[in-house]
Amino acid sequence: MEVFHHRREIKLRVVSLKKAGKSIGFVPTMGALHAGHISLVRHARQQNDVIVVSIFVNPTQFNNKEDLVRYPRTIDADLLLLEKEGCDFVFIPDEMEMYPEPDLRVFSFGNFDKVMEGKFRPGHFNGVAQIVTKLFDTVTPDRAYFGQKDFQQLAIIRKLASDCRYPVEIVACPIVREADGLAMSSRNTRLTPEERQHAPLIYKTLLKAQETGRSVSPESLKKAVIDSINDDPFLQVEYFEIVDDKTLQPVKSWDKPGTKIGCIAVLAGKIRLIDNITFNS
Ligand code: PAF
Repeated sequence: MEVFHHRREIKLRVVSLKKAGKSIGFVPTMGALHAGHISLVRHARQQNDVIVVSIFVNPTQFNNKEDLVRYPRTIDADLLLLEKEGCDFVFIPDEMEMYPEPDLRVFSFGNFDKVMEGKFRPGHFNGVAQIVTKLFDTVTPDRAYFGQKDFQQLAIIRKLASDCRYPVEIVACPIVREADGLAMSSRNTRLTPEERQHAPLIYKTLLKAQETGRSVSPESLKKAVIDSINDDPFLQVEYFEIVDDKTLQPVKSWDKPGTKIGCIAVLAGKIRLIDNITFNS
């Protein structure tokens, strides 16, 4: 496994491999790798000749300074895991490498970033777009892998890749969960033991909502989910929205065609957890 710190070096290496006909699979991460990331690497491994993983805690996507400072950083363990998974290249730039000067670009996502994460984390998706475009320009992947836990991010990155005409296939990979159902997240390690014990209620409630599904209105289902999670003293719902999977806009009725997704953000103490569930049509 080769480790790169500079954009120019990894780009040259990848370009020469592509000239030799090799396909490049890319998994962008912010490190603190867990089984969710590893599943992205394994998906990439199945479909590409060369696997590139980037590790960079991107400051421009954090709208909360404390979250950025406290974001877990476990680079030695990450490298061991990636080596074990047969990753070929790891790209670990520092901030100066990715942002030698402030990135003033402003991206437009239509209505995609006016709801949910976009509404509660202003500027977050602009920061994601800034780093993802820089990473795509550097790694020039044939395929890039993203987890479905960040459902809105996935939709925004698909739009970004298509708007900017990146010749990359965006591949969505299923959510990986702990044995008790909690969606894997680097932030889970920051939960107190008590918060960790209560956090699985999020997925349990989503499963119950999925079962109830269309027997009640989206509005009533939304209220039931929010109330039952907020009844837990360790959890506070920031939002729960039932949205169309293509437009990301909240739905008022189940009748319109298309898949509906229930997306949730919950605060467990200071830690923000997100998850989602699909409502079958
Ligand atoms: O999903 C993430 O970990 C980040 O948002 C990403 C895509 C690596 C960009 O920093």
